[in-house]
Amino acid sequence: MSTNRTFTMIKPDAVKNGHIGAILEKITAAGFKIVAMKYTQLSLRDAQEFYGVHRERPFFGELVEFMTSGTIVAAILEKENAVEDFRALIGATNPADAAEGTIRKMFATSIGENAVHGSDSDENAAIEGAFHFSGREIY
Ligand code: CMP
Repeated sequence: MSTNRTFTMIKPDAVKNGHIGAILEKITAAGFKIVAMKYTQLSLRDAQEFYGVHRERPFFGELVEFMTSGTIVAAILEKENAVEDFRALIGATNPADAAEGTIRKMFATSIGENAVHGSDSDENAAIEGAFHFSGREIY
């Protein structure tokens, strides 16, 4: 069953490039309600745990280094069909393949530095949201 929630991070590249406001505007304009949000920075341990499923991938080291390189915005978003609709809004992982008008097409620079994260399933949305937020921080 769909939980109608997804989890996102505005990644260090987009924060450094000054795109927090524009990305949040795209997200809310698309009908997502922000039910939790924080400005934070991942520690090495946080990033290794969060991206644990990618541990064996050749890009794991690069991914962890990048995701700990600066501040991020983490948020839980609510909307009917949230996971699928949010992935459509952000576009393909590689911005070169992302459709016109998507967040990654507009703000990402490369497959590694791709501006935003979006959960790939309801199950992962719940796990990732709980990684960053306690129940008392979700409204
Ligand atoms: P995301 O979907 O947020 O979570 C996994 C991340 O791994 C993905 O975004 C990309 O930023 C990153 N990633 C995937 N493939 C590559 C790759 N070939 N090289 C570098 N980073 C990658």
